[in-house]
Amino acid sequence: MKIDVLTLFPSIFNIIIESSIIKRAIDKGKVEINIINIRDFSDYSNSQVDDTPYGGGGGMVLMCDPVFKAIESVKVDNSKVIMMTPSGSVFNQKLAYDFSKFEHIILLCGHYEGFDERIKTLVDLEVSIGDYVLTGGELPASVIIDSVVRLIPGVISEESLKSESFTDSLLDYPVYTKPRVYRGMEVPEVLLSGDHKRIEEYRKSERLRITREKRADILK
Ligand SMILES: C[S@@+](CC[C@H](N)C(=O)[O-])C[C@H]1O[C@@H](n2cnc3c(N)ncnc32)[C@H](O)[C@@H]1O
Repeated sequence: MKIDVLTLFPSIFNIIIESSIIKRAIDKGKVEINIINIRDFSDYSNSQVDDTPYGGGGGMVLMCDPVFKAIESVKVDNSKVIMMTPSGSVFNQKLAYDFSKFEHIILLCGHYEGFDERIKTLVDLEVSIGDYVLTGGELPASVIIDSVVRLIPGVISEESLKSESFTDSLLDYPVYTKPRVYRGMEVPEVLLSGDHKRIEEYRKSERLRITREKRADILK
């Protein structure tokens, strides 16, 4: 899979692509991630990329030309152009799975007041990461990269993905590690029993209980 990120603040992505599972996925050739500065595509003086809104109002609007040129520099037939915007579809695990099957995604990060509306003619999908407004699309794009890359086959173990929260309208079961007793708190006996059938039943009932308690809205 290939991910091209179009941004005005490339350095924000350094930590994401140089750490942990994402770095390993890049090193193993599971994903190629390119961070591209939209400003490099400005033909205006001082590499200007934004201007005041027609009709008045505060803030600056990202101009068509640099953004069109940045998208066109990377877009091919099978690309999906995904715009970060608070007014997009709210991102979730199902969309993360859908995106992980695309061969090439282009993540478009806005800033300031957002994009000139005409830029949407080049966009396949508008995505929001939640009902709040951030200063830029870099954190939303990072959230998408992180959640999508870990779903690419071979990046993390199939076993870890099997019972994850949101994959089958349930939250995950609780997990414990050593020591067996910590400050008087004991690991549930069933997990030490070695009885795989009982452990599976316990985990299933815990998933149901926790989902009912915390997120009854996702239960089918
Ligand atoms: C300050 S916001 C623009 C907000 C816009 N004026 C509005 O009210 O919808 C600047 C940029 O941050 C990004 N952004 C902010 N909040 C976001 C969210 N919840 N999800 C995705 N992108 C977001 C978008 O790329 C947006 O163009």
